Amino acid sequence: MKNTYLLTIENLSKDATGQASCGNKLFSVHGALPGELVRVKTFRKKLNTYQASLMNILRQSTVRVNPHCLHFNICSGCNLQHMPYGFQLNFKLNSLKNLIKEAALDFDRAISVIKEEQVGYRLKARLAMKWVTKKEKVVIGFRERGSGYITDSSTCSVLHERLQKIVFKLPALVEQTSVKNAAPQIEVVTDERIVAIILRHLKPLTSDDLTKLLAFCQEFEVDIYLQNGGPETVSKIGEVTQMYYEVAGCQLKFSPNSFIQVNRDINNRMVNIVLEEMNLNPEDCVIDFFCGLGNFSIPLAKHAKKVLGIEFDSDMVKLANENAANNKCRNATFIKSDLYKSEIGLDSICLSDYNKIILDPPRSGAAVLISQLNLEAASLLIYVSCNASTLMNDAKILICKYGYEISNVFLLDMFPQTIHFETIMVFKK
Ligand SMILES: C[S@@+](CC[C@H](N)C(=O)[O-])C[C@H]1O[C@@H](n2cnc3c(N)ncnc32)[C@H](O)[C@@H]1O
Repeated sequence: MKNTYLLTIENLSKDATGQASCGNKLFSVHGALPGELVRVKTFRKKLNTYQASLMNILRQSTVRVNPHCLHFNICSGCNLQHMPYGFQLNFKLNSLKNLIKEAALDFDRAISVIKEEQVGYRLKARLAMKWVTKKEKVVIGFRERGSGYITDSSTCSVLHERLQKIVFKLPALVEQTSVKNAAPQIEVVTDERIVAIILRHLKPLTSDDLTKLLAFCQEFEVDIYLQNGGPETVSKIGEVTQMYYEVAGCQLKFSPNSFIQVNRDINNRMVNIVLEEMNLNPEDCVIDFFCGLGNFSIPLAKHAKKVLGIEFDSDMVKLANENAANNKCRNATFIKSDLYKSEIGLDSICLSDYNKIILDPPRSGAAVLISQLNLEAASLLIYVSCNASTLMNDAKILICKYGYEISNVFLLDMFPQTIHFETIMVFKK
Protein backbone atom coordinates (compact mmCIF):
# COMPACT_ATOMS: atom_id res chain seq x y z
CA MET A 1 0.00 0.00 0.00
CA LYS A 2 1.23 3.53 -0.80
CA ASN A 3 3.13 5.36 1.98
CA THR A 4 3.10 2.36 4.31
CA TYR A 5 6.24 0.96 5.93
CA LEU A 6 7.20 -1.86 8.25
CA LEU A 7 9.51 -0.47 10.94
CA THR A 8 11.31 -1.47 14.11
CA ILE A 9 11.19 1.35 16.62
CA GLU A 10 14.68 2.20 17.84
CA ASN A 11 14.16 4.86 20.52
CA LEU A 12 11.94 7.69 21.74
CA SER A 13 12.26 11.31 20.66
CA LYS A 14 12.10 14.27 23.06
CA ASP A 15 8.34 14.44 22.48
CA ALA A 16 7.98 10.67 23.13
CA THR A 17 7.27 9.59 19.55
CA GLY A 18 8.84 6.30 18.42
CA GLN A 19 11.86 6.87 16.14
CA ALA A 20 12.85 4.46 13.36
CA SER A 21 14.90 4.43 10.18
CA CYS A 22 14.50 2.54 6.93
CA GLY A 23 17.19 2.98 4.27
CA ASN A 24 18.05 6.66 4.43
CA LYS A 25 14.57 7.62 5.67
CA LEU A 26 13.81 8.65 9.26
CA PHE A 27 10.36 8.15 10.81
CA SER A 28 8.53 9.48 13.83
CA VAL A 29 5.52 7.43 15.03
CA HIS A 30 3.15 8.60 17.77
CA GLY A 31 2.21 5.85 20.23
CA ALA A 32 5.00 3.42 19.27
CA LEU A 33 7.53 2.10 21.81
CA PRO A 34 11.17 1.02 21.46
CA GLY A 35 11.55 -2.58 20.25
CA GLU A 36 8.12 -2.71 18.63
CA LEU A 37 7.63 -3.92 15.07
CA VAL A 38 4.96 -1.69 13.56
CA ARG A 39 3.20 -1.00 10.29
CA VAL A 40 2.80 2.74 9.75
CA LYS A 41 1.43 5.17 7.20
CA THR A 42 3.25 8.43 6.58
CA PHE A 43 1.19 11.63 6.42
CA ARG A 44 3.74 14.46 6.38
CA LYS A 45 7.44 15.16 6.02
CA LYS A 46 8.80 17.65 8.56
CA LEU A 47 12.45 18.68 8.11
CA ASN A 48 14.03 15.35 7.18
CA THR A 49 11.65 13.12 9.15
CA TYR A 50 8.49 11.40 7.94
CA GLN A 51 5.67 11.64 10.45
CA ALA A 52 3.64 8.48 10.47
CA SER A 53 0.57 7.07 12.16
CA LEU A 54 0.45 3.60 13.65
CA MET A 55 -1.62 1.14 11.58
CA ASN A 56 -0.89 -2.01 13.57
CA ILE A 57 1.64 -3.46 15.97
CA LEU A 58 3.12 -6.77 14.82
CA ARG A 59 5.43 -7.21 17.82
CA GLN A 60 4.43 -5.41 20.99
CA SER A 61 6.70 -4.01 23.70
CA THR A 62 6.38 -5.91 26.98
CA VAL A 63 5.87 -2.63 28.83
CA ARG A 64 2.97 -1.38 26.68
CA VAL A 65 -0.30 -0.63 28.52
CA ASN A 66 -3.70 0.21 27.05
CA PRO A 67 -4.22 3.98 26.96
CA HIS A 68 -7.17 4.66 29.24
CA CYS A 69 -8.51 7.58 27.19
CA LEU A 70 -10.73 7.00 24.15
CA HIS A 71 -9.07 9.92 22.40
CA PHE A 72 -5.42 8.96 22.92
CA ASN A 73 -4.75 8.37 19.21
CA ILE A 74 -6.10 11.76 18.17
CA CYS A 75 -5.85 14.28 21.02
CA SER A 76 -2.61 16.20 21.49
CA GLY A 77 -3.25 16.53 25.24
CA CYS A 78 -1.60 13.35 26.61
CA ASN A 79 1.24 11.58 24.79
CA LEU A 80 2.35 8.99 27.32
CA GLN A 81 -0.74 6.94 28.16
CA HIS A 82 0.60 3.84 26.41
CA MET A 83 3.47 3.69 28.95
CA PRO A 84 3.16 2.42 32.53
CA TYR A 85 3.50 5.29 35.00
CA GLY A 86 7.01 4.27 36.14
CA PHE A 87 8.12 4.26 32.49
CA GLN A 88 6.62 7.75 32.00
CA LEU A 89 8.63 9.04 34.96
CA ASN A 90 11.82 7.42 33.66
CA PHE A 91 11.24 8.97 30.26
CA LYS A 92 10.97 12.43 31.86
CA LEU A 93 13.93 11.86 34.15
CA ASN A 94 16.09 10.78 31.21
CA SER A 95 14.97 13.85 29.21
CA LEU A 96 16.06 16.09 32.09
CA LYS A 97 19.37 14.26 32.60
CA ASN A 98 20.11 14.48 28.85
CA LEU A 99 19.46 18.23 28.84
CA ILE A 100 21.78 18.70 31.83
CA LYS A 101 24.43 16.66 30.02
CA GLU A 102 23.99 18.50 26.68
CA ALA A 103 24.30 21.83 28.50
CA ALA A 104 27.49 20.49 30.18
CA LEU A 105 26.24 21.53 33.62
CA ASP A 106 28.18 20.27 36.58
CA PHE A 107 25.61 18.15 38.41
CA ASP A 108 25.87 14.39 38.68
CA ARG A 109 23.94 13.73 41.91
CA ALA A 110 20.58 11.93 42.03
CA ILE A 111 17.55 13.95 40.94
CA SER A 112 14.54 13.54 43.28
CA VAL A 113 11.34 12.68 41.44
CA ILE A 114 8.14 13.95 43.05
CA LYS A 115 4.83 12.35 42.09
CA GLU A 116 1.22 12.35 43.22
CA GLU A 117 -2.08 11.36 41.52
CA GLN A 118 -1.80 10.30 37.88
CA VAL A 119 -5.32 11.32 36.79
CA GLY A 120 -7.94 13.86 37.84
CA TYR A 121 -5.26 16.38 38.83
CA ARG A 122 -5.97 19.30 36.51
CA LEU A 123 -7.75 22.21 38.26
CA LYS A 124 -7.87 24.35 35.15
CA ALA A 125 -8.09 23.85 31.38
CA ARG A 126 -8.66 25.93 28.28
CA LEU A 127 -10.60 23.96 25.70
CA ALA A 128 -11.33 24.82 22.10
CA MET A 129 -14.92 24.73 20.84
CA LYS A 130 -16.48 24.83 17.40
CA TRP A 131 -19.82 24.31 15.71
CA VAL A 132 -19.22 21.59 13.10
CA THR A 133 -21.95 21.73 10.48
CA LYS A 134 -21.23 18.21 9.16
CA LYS A 135 -21.71 16.74 12.61
CA GLU A 136 -24.50 19.20 13.44
CA LYS A 137 -23.08 19.80 16.87
CA VAL A 138 -20.61 21.83 18.91
CA VAL A 139 -17.40 19.90 19.58
CA ILE A 140 -15.17 20.55 22.56
CA GLY A 141 -11.64 19.42 23.39
CA PHE A 142 -7.92 19.97 23.02
CA ARG A 143 -6.47 20.24 19.49
CA GLU A 144 -5.91 17.08 17.51
CA ARG A 145 -2.31 15.97 17.26
CA GLY A 146 -0.57 17.60 14.29
CA SER A 147 -3.69 19.42 13.02
CA GLY A 148 -5.72 22.52 13.76
CA TYR A 149 -8.90 20.45 14.26
CA ILE A 150 -10.52 20.07 17.66
CA THR A 151 -10.70 16.57 19.13
CA ASP A 152 -14.40 15.72 19.44
CA SER A 153 -14.07 14.70 23.09
CA SER A 154 -16.49 13.01 25.44
CA THR A 155 -14.04 12.38 28.28
CA CYS A 156 -10.74 13.67 29.70
CA SER A 157 -9.27 11.77 32.63
CA VAL A 158 -6.64 14.33 33.63
CA LEU A 159 -9.31 16.92 34.50
CA HIS A 160 -10.37 17.21 38.13
CA GLU A 161 -13.54 15.16 38.68
CA ARG A 162 -15.58 18.33 39.33
CA LEU A 163 -14.57 19.59 35.86
CA GLN A 164 -15.18 16.24 34.15
CA LYS A 165 -18.81 16.39 35.35
CA ILE A 166 -19.39 19.80 33.73
CA VAL A 167 -17.16 20.08 30.64
CA PHE A 168 -18.96 17.61 28.42
CA LYS A 169 -22.35 19.19 29.17
CA LEU A 170 -21.15 22.51 27.76
CA PRO A 171 -21.50 21.78 24.02
CA ALA A 172 -25.24 21.05 24.44
CA LEU A 173 -25.60 24.32 26.36
CA VAL A 174 -23.78 26.39 23.73
CA GLU A 175 -25.81 24.73 20.93
CA GLN A 176 -28.97 26.26 22.45
CA THR A 177 -27.58 29.80 22.18
CA SER A 178 -27.34 32.30 19.33
CA VAL A 179 -23.50 32.15 19.57
CA LYS A 180 -23.22 28.44 18.89
CA ASN A 181 -21.00 29.18 15.87
CA ALA A 182 -19.22 32.12 17.49
CA ALA A 183 -17.93 30.60 20.74
CA PRO A 184 -14.36 29.41 20.03
CA GLN A 185 -13.15 28.65 23.54
CA ILE A 186 -14.19 27.81 27.04
CA GLU A 187 -12.05 27.84 30.18
CA VAL A 188 -12.99 25.71 33.15
CA VAL A 189 -11.50 26.03 36.61
CA THR A 190 -12.18 24.67 40.06
CA ASP A 191 -10.84 25.25 43.55
CA GLU A 192 -12.34 21.83 44.41
CA ARG A 193 -15.44 23.49 45.94
CA ILE A 194 -16.61 25.77 43.16
CA VAL A 195 -16.53 25.30 39.39
CA ALA A 196 -16.32 28.36 37.16
CA ILE A 197 -16.47 28.60 33.39
CA ILE A 198 -15.37 31.44 31.14
CA LEU A 199 -17.21 31.45 27.83
CA ARG A 200 -15.37 33.27 25.04
CA HIS A 201 -17.86 34.65 22.49
CA LEU A 202 -17.30 36.62 19.30
CA LYS A 203 -20.87 37.95 18.95
CA PRO A 204 -23.07 39.63 21.59
CA LEU A 205 -25.32 37.31 23.59
CA THR A 206 -29.07 37.82 23.58
CA SER A 207 -31.12 38.04 26.77
CA ASP A 208 -32.50 34.60 25.93
CA ASP A 209 -28.91 33.26 25.80
CA LEU A 210 -28.19 34.76 29.21
CA THR A 211 -31.32 33.18 30.68
CA LYS A 212 -30.20 29.76 29.39
CA LEU A 213 -26.66 30.19 30.70
CA LEU A 214 -27.90 31.25 34.13
CA ALA A 215 -30.35 28.34 34.28
CA PHE A 216 -27.49 25.94 33.52
CA CYS A 217 -25.37 27.53 36.24
CA GLN A 218 -28.16 27.15 38.77
CA GLU A 219 -28.87 23.55 37.83
CA PHE A 220 -25.20 22.43 37.98
CA GLU A 221 -23.96 24.93 40.60
CA VAL A 222 -21.44 26.58 38.34
CA ASP A 223 -20.25 30.21 38.24
CA ILE A 224 -20.17 31.73 34.79
CA TYR A 225 -18.04 34.48 33.27
CA LEU A 226 -18.12 35.89 29.75
CA GLN A 227 -15.23 37.08 27.62
CA ASN A 228 -15.88 39.01 24.43
CA GLY A 229 -12.28 40.17 23.79
CA GLY A 230 -8.87 39.98 25.46
CA PRO A 231 -8.36 38.71 29.04
CA GLU A 232 -9.29 42.15 30.43
CA THR A 233 -12.87 41.71 29.14
CA VAL A 234 -13.69 38.77 31.43
CA SER A 235 -16.81 39.65 33.44
CA LYS A 236 -19.11 37.65 35.68
CA ILE A 237 -22.80 37.16 35.12
CA GLY A 238 -25.05 36.63 38.10
CA GLU A 239 -23.72 35.78 41.55
CA VAL A 240 -20.26 34.24 41.76
CA THR A 241 -18.27 32.93 44.72
CA GLN A 242 -14.64 33.78 45.52
CA MET A 243 -12.25 30.90 44.74
CA TYR A 244 -9.32 30.02 47.02
CA TYR A 245 -6.14 28.02 46.52
CA GLU A 246 -4.73 26.22 49.57
CA VAL A 247 -0.95 26.11 49.68
CA ALA A 248 1.41 25.33 52.56
CA GLY A 249 -1.19 26.35 55.15
CA CYS A 250 -2.08 29.63 53.37
CA GLN A 251 -5.31 30.48 51.55
CA LEU A 252 -4.82 32.47 48.37
CA LYS A 253 -7.76 33.95 46.56
CA PHE A 254 -7.78 33.85 42.78
CA SER A 255 -9.98 34.67 39.82
CA PRO A 256 -10.99 32.16 37.13
CA ASN A 257 -8.60 33.79 34.66
CA SER A 258 -5.65 34.01 37.09
CA PHE A 259 -2.56 31.89 36.55
CA ILE A 260 -2.66 29.00 39.03
CA GLN A 261 -0.46 25.91 39.29
CA VAL A 262 -2.85 23.32 37.83
CA ASN A 263 -1.89 20.41 40.07
CA ARG A 264 -2.60 21.32 43.69
CA ASP A 265 -0.91 18.32 45.34
CA ILE A 266 2.29 18.71 43.33
CA ASN A 267 2.22 22.46 43.92
CA ASN A 268 2.09 21.88 47.67
CA ARG A 269 5.07 19.53 47.43
CA MET A 270 6.85 22.12 45.26
CA VAL A 271 6.28 25.01 47.67
CA ASN A 272 7.39 22.83 50.60
CA ILE A 273 10.60 21.88 48.76
CA VAL A 274 11.28 25.56 48.11
CA LEU A 275 10.66 26.34 51.81
CA GLU A 276 13.06 23.58 52.86
CA GLU A 277 15.76 24.54 50.37
CA MET A 278 15.48 28.25 51.30
CA ASN A 279 15.95 27.33 54.95
CA LEU A 280 14.90 30.85 55.91
CA ASN A 281 15.86 32.69 59.04
CA PRO A 282 14.21 35.89 60.35
CA GLU A 283 16.93 38.06 58.77
CA ASP A 284 16.49 36.71 55.22
CA CYS A 285 15.13 38.97 52.48
CA VAL A 286 13.68 37.26 49.43
CA ILE A 287 12.71 38.36 45.93
CA ASP A 288 10.11 36.28 44.11
CA PHE A 289 10.39 37.06 40.38
CA PHE A 290 7.25 36.17 38.32
CA CYS A 291 5.34 35.81 41.60
CA GLY A 292 1.78 35.48 40.27
CA LEU A 293 -0.74 35.63 43.09
CA GLY A 294 1.89 34.93 45.76
CA ASN A 295 2.05 31.12 45.54
CA PHE A 296 5.66 31.08 46.81
CA SER A 297 5.96 34.59 48.28
CA ILE A 298 3.27 34.26 50.92
CA PRO A 299 4.39 30.91 52.41
CA LEU A 300 7.99 32.26 52.31
CA ALA A 301 6.99 35.50 54.03
CA LYS A 302 5.92 33.48 57.10
CA HIS A 303 9.63 32.70 57.73
CA ALA A 304 11.56 35.64 56.28
CA LYS A 305 12.21 39.24 57.26
CA LYS A 306 10.65 40.49 54.02
CA VAL A 307 9.56 39.24 50.62
CA LEU A 308 9.19 41.28 47.46
CA GLY A 309 7.10 39.77 44.66
CA ILE A 310 7.45 41.07 41.10
CA GLU A 311 4.89 40.33 38.41
CA PHE A 312 3.69 41.79 35.10
CA ASP A 313 -0.07 41.29 35.37
CA SER A 314 -1.62 44.07 37.47
CA ASP A 315 -4.64 41.94 38.43
CA MET A 316 -2.25 39.33 39.84
CA VAL A 317 -0.31 42.02 41.73
CA LYS A 318 -3.57 43.25 43.24
CA LEU A 319 -4.57 39.71 44.24
CA ALA A 320 -1.10 39.04 45.68
CA ASN A 321 -1.30 42.18 47.85
CA GLU A 322 -4.78 41.15 49.06
CA ASN A 323 -3.50 37.61 49.72
CA ALA A 324 -0.63 39.00 51.80
CA ALA A 325 -3.08 41.04 53.90
CA ASN A 326 -5.52 38.12 54.30
CA ASN A 327 -2.69 35.83 55.42
CA LYS A 328 -1.33 38.46 57.82
CA CYS A 329 1.97 38.83 55.96
CA ARG A 330 2.75 42.53 56.41
CA ASN A 331 6.32 41.80 55.32
CA ALA A 332 5.25 40.78 51.79
CA THR A 333 4.88 43.46 49.13
CA PHE A 334 4.17 43.12 45.44
CA ILE A 335 4.96 45.36 42.51
CA LYS A 336 4.26 45.36 38.81
CA SER A 337 7.15 45.17 36.36
CA ASP A 338 7.74 43.69 32.92
CA LEU A 339 10.63 41.30 33.50
CA TYR A 340 11.07 40.67 29.76
CA LYS A 341 11.74 44.30 28.89
CA SER A 342 15.28 45.22 27.94
CA GLU A 343 15.03 48.11 30.46
CA ILE A 344 13.47 46.32 33.41
CA GLY A 345 13.09 49.53 35.43
CA LEU A 346 13.66 48.25 38.96
CA ASP A 347 16.08 51.08 39.74
CA SER A 348 14.16 52.08 42.87
CA ILE A 349 14.78 48.63 44.37
CA CYS A 350 18.03 47.96 46.15
CA LEU A 351 18.71 44.42 44.89
CA SER A 352 21.70 44.05 47.20
CA ASP A 353 19.24 44.02 50.16
CA TYR A 354 18.00 40.61 49.06
CA ASN A 355 20.06 37.52 49.89
CA LYS A 356 17.71 34.85 48.52
CA ILE A 357 15.86 34.67 45.21
CA ILE A 358 13.16 32.56 43.66
CA LEU A 359 12.44 32.68 39.93
CA ASP A 360 9.44 31.00 38.29
CA PRO A 361 9.19 32.34 34.73
CA PRO A 362 6.87 31.33 31.86
CA ARG A 363 8.12 28.75 29.31
CA SER A 364 10.37 31.28 27.57
CA GLY A 365 12.63 31.49 30.63
CA ALA A 366 14.33 34.43 32.33
CA ALA A 367 17.45 35.15 30.27
CA VAL A 368 16.63 38.87 29.91
CA LEU A 369 16.24 39.34 33.63
CA ILE A 370 19.29 37.39 34.77
CA SER A 371 21.49 39.03 32.14
CA GLN A 372 20.31 42.58 32.92
CA LEU A 373 19.95 42.69 36.69
CA ASN A 374 22.69 42.41 39.26
CA LEU A 375 21.78 39.42 41.43
CA GLU A 376 25.26 39.32 42.97
CA ALA A 377 24.05 39.64 46.57
CA ALA A 378 21.99 36.45 46.55
CA SER A 379 23.80 33.47 48.04
CA LEU A 380 20.90 31.18 47.09
CA LEU A 381 18.70 31.20 44.01
CA ILE A 382 15.92 28.72 43.34
CA TYR A 383 14.77 28.42 39.75
CA VAL A 384 11.37 26.78 39.17
CA SER A 385 10.82 25.94 35.52
CA CYS A 386 8.10 24.46 33.32
CA ASN A 387 10.50 24.26 30.37
CA ALA A 388 13.75 22.45 31.07
CA SER A 389 15.30 23.65 27.76
CA THR A 390 15.16 27.35 28.65
CA LEU A 391 16.19 26.47 32.20
CA MET A 392 19.46 24.96 30.89
CA ASN A 393 20.27 28.12 28.96
CA ASP A 394 19.55 30.31 31.99
CA ALA A 395 21.52 27.98 34.30
CA LYS A 396 24.60 28.51 32.12
CA ILE A 397 24.23 32.30 32.51
CA LEU A 398 23.75 32.03 36.28
CA ILE A 399 26.85 29.88 36.64
CA CYS A 400 29.07 32.00 34.34
CA LYS A 401 27.88 35.44 35.43
CA TYR A 402 27.48 34.93 39.19
CA GLY A 403 29.58 31.85 40.01
CA TYR A 404 26.67 29.75 41.32
CA GLU A 405 26.92 25.98 41.67
CA ILE A 406 23.96 23.65 41.30
CA SER A 407 23.29 22.12 44.70
CA ASN A 408 20.07 20.18 44.07
CA VAL A 409 17.61 19.28 41.31
CA PHE A 410 14.03 18.02 41.60
CA LEU A 411 11.70 16.77 38.89
CA LEU A 412 8.03 17.27 39.77
CA ASP A 413 5.44 15.40 37.78
CA MET A 414 2.98 18.29 37.59
CA PHE A 415 1.38 16.96 34.37
CA PRO A 416 1.16 13.12 34.42
CA GLN A 417 0.30 11.41 31.09
CA THR A 418 1.91 14.30 29.16
CA ILE A 419 5.55 14.94 28.26
CA HIS A 420 5.61 18.05 30.45
CA PHE A 421 7.09 18.38 33.92
CA GLU A 422 8.30 21.00 36.36
CA THR A 423 11.94 21.29 37.49
CA ILE A 424 13.40 22.93 40.57
CA MET A 425 17.08 23.75 40.29
CA VAL A 426 18.78 25.09 43.41
CA PHE A 427 21.83 27.35 42.92
CA LYS A 428 24.21 28.25 45.74
CA LYS A 429 27.37 30.31 46.13
C1 LIG B 1 4.84 30.16 35.66
S1 LIG B 1 3.88 31.49 36.27
C2 LIG B 1 4.36 31.47 37.94
C3 LIG B 1 3.47 32.21 38.89
C4 LIG B 1 3.71 31.94 40.38
N1 LIG B 1 5.11 31.88 40.71
C5 LIG B 1 3.01 30.69 40.82
O1 LIG B 1 3.68 29.75 41.26
O2 LIG B 1 1.75 30.64 40.75
C6 LIG B 1 4.67 32.84 35.56
C7 LIG B 1 4.16 34.18 35.97
O3 LIG B 1 4.92 35.16 35.23
C8 LIG B 1 4.08 36.24 34.92
N2 LIG B 1 4.67 36.92 33.76
C9 LIG B 1 4.53 36.62 32.45
N3 LIG B 1 5.22 37.50 31.69
C10 LIG B 1 5.82 38.37 32.54
C11 LIG B 1 6.65 39.49 32.36
N4 LIG B 1 6.98 39.90 31.13
N5 LIG B 1 7.10 40.14 33.44
C12 LIG B 1 6.75 39.73 34.69
N6 LIG B 1 5.94 38.69 34.93
C13 LIG B 1 5.47 38.01 33.87
C14 LIG B 1 2.74 35.58 34.64
O4 LIG B 1 1.69 36.53 34.77
C15 LIG B 1 2.70 34.47 35.68
O5 LIG B 1 2.08 34.93 36.86
